[in-house]
Amino acid sequence: MTQKLNILLLLALAFQAKRVCGENAAVPNDGSSGKDSPASALVSDEPKHGVSLPAFAPFSVPNAAFWEQFAGGLEPHWKGSQASKDGEEEARYSGEWAVEEATELVGITGDNMLVVKSEARHHAISAPLDKPFDPAPHGLVFQYEVKLQNNLNCGGAYAKLLTAPLSGEFSDATPYTLMFGPDKCGDSKVHLIYRHKNPVTGEYTQHHLKQPPTPPADRLTHLYTLVVHTNNTISVSIDGSERRAGSLLEDFEPPVNPPKEIDDPNDKKPSDWEDEEKIPDPDAEKPSDWDEDAPLMVTDEDAVMPKGWLENEPLMVEDPEAEKPSDWDDDEDGDWAAPMVPNPRCAEADGCGPWKRPLKRNPDYKGKWTPPLIDNPRYKGEWAPRRIANPEYFEDLEPYKLAKIGGIGFELWTMQSGISFNNIYLGDSIKDAAQIAKNVWEPKHDAEIAVRDALNPKPPKVEKSKTSELLELLKIRLADIALSIGSFYDALQRDGVAVALREERSGAIASAMAASGLCWLVWNLLAFVRLLRGSAVPAQAPSRASTAKDASSNSNSDAAAEAATTSARPDGGSGGAAVKRKTAKSDKS
Ligand SMILES: *[C@@H]1O[C@H](CO)[C@@H](O)[C@H](O)[C@H]1NC(C)=O
Repeated sequence: MTQKLNILLLLALAFQAKRVCGENAAVPNDGSSGKDSPASALVSDEPKHGVSLPAFAPFSVPNAAFWEQFAGGLEPHWKGSQASKDGEEEARYSGEWAVEEATELVGITGDNMLVVKSEARHHAISAPLDKPFDPAPHGLVFQYEVKLQNNLNCGGAYAKLLTAPLSGEFSDATPYTLMFGPDKCGDSKVHLIYRHKNPVTGEYTQHHLKQPPTPPADRLTHLYTLVVHTNNTISVSIDGSERRAGSLLEDFEPPVNPPKEIDDPNDKKPSDWEDEEKIPDPDAEKPSDWDEDAPLMVTDEDAVMPKGWLENEPLMVEDPEAEKPSDWDDDEDGDWAAPMVPNPRCAEADGCGPWKRPLKRNPDYKGKWTPPLIDNPRYKGEWAPRRIANPEYFEDLEPYKLAKIGGIGFELWTMQSGISFNNIYLGDSIKDAAQIAKNVWEPKHDAEIAVRDALNPKPPKVEKSKTSELLELLKIRLADIALSIGSFYDALQRDGVAVALREERSGAIASAMAASGLCWLVWNLLAFVRLLRGSAVPAQAPSRASTAKDASSNSNSDAAAEAATTSARPDGGSGGAAVKRKTAKSDKS
């Protein structure tokens, strides 16, 4: 009988072990464990991430003022700067640039880009336009791709549209018309700054877009698009969707047009200007009974000495228990005196020594007299300087007519290398920019996402698929089986068949097992087949193990799945324990 049961038990365990393990291998798995191994395998063997990458094909934009895909490398257009930032020798633009393909999340093969190669360096590089571009007639469209291959903790990734005509080495001192692109260090924003020439003074002032959008922080290629319309409105888009719209007149700080009036810098507050709203009443007099000298605290004359106060007892007395040491030599050590200790009588009394009256707050205390405040009859209000016409006033209602552009430059400080630029477009055609976005950027971006997802598979959504649902139910069923076998076998071994059977609450399966384990297995197999056929929820198996019931009521619980896996492991868990027990038992019988 026992041996028969043992064999059945082994069969059942083998069956469920095979099922559970096989199934685990088939399911992409719930995140953590399945994530590492395939990813690292794929990184080392790139073409095998299962994404077929599009190859680079040149794209032509005939009417662009500037269009750069870096297909021909840096030369002859791009030139690294030999200057220094702020003209200081230690701030030389020593950062290196390269034109090369992406190394991180490659979306397109053979696609060259301009790459920042050095960390913690000043970088500057620029390229001239074939001929200066004038934003006045049709506005301006500027678009380029940024890919942060090593991410960006601190650094710039913005471009400068350099004011024509270009002269000298490119540096931070080179006048620019507009600056646009992501910048990260602490807070992270998409800069948009334009420089405007004050027609009165001839000086340029910088105007920053208020509330700039936040750039994405990943290693994908992102497309930054700026449109300046001829009605002074601007639009900033990232990856083709508008992230900020505004007006050159209203949404920049400081405003491009200065105020009509300003405070007169020569106007001074007159010395007799009364701007105190309240003054002390000059007619008030100190009341005759006001004693400024009355002290805050006085002796409490009503206080009496507590009855238990011992006025004649000292606070300290000689220790009555102290004795002169036997080796005390009066000649050498001087006269012996007992050490002083707190007077033990005082401990029980209200106090000892001379008694003094306590202090109390003086009811006649008044303090310094001050006259009450009254409204100042000569009060003139807050003084403000006279307003005069602003001598630098002008009104430019067409700031979109930005200064002509002669070149494009990147002048950056960065802590991270790998910042990459590509597909730089400057012109006046929103249509061309959109075509570039659709034909050049989008396929690359999509491929990059596909590669990223292949490298980091997302955990499957278990609830979504019918098969996963079935597998989940199967796991629970197997956990149930394992636990019922385990607990029944334990009882059997401990207390014998009769007790084991009695202990089974429902008794159905246990009896069936005892009578014919095969029937029991077949029943479960049938239930499994019913499951696979898709009959919604299977008829509740006559299960009795309470722990298994808890697990199964918590339908897609990880605990249940884990219980199934653990109990099925041949080298550990309850399954392994059961096998070991089996060996011991058969030796005995
Ligand atoms: C400005 O011009 C653009 C392009 O013509 C247009 O889409 C936009 O609605 C205009 N905005 C305003 C405020 O007129």
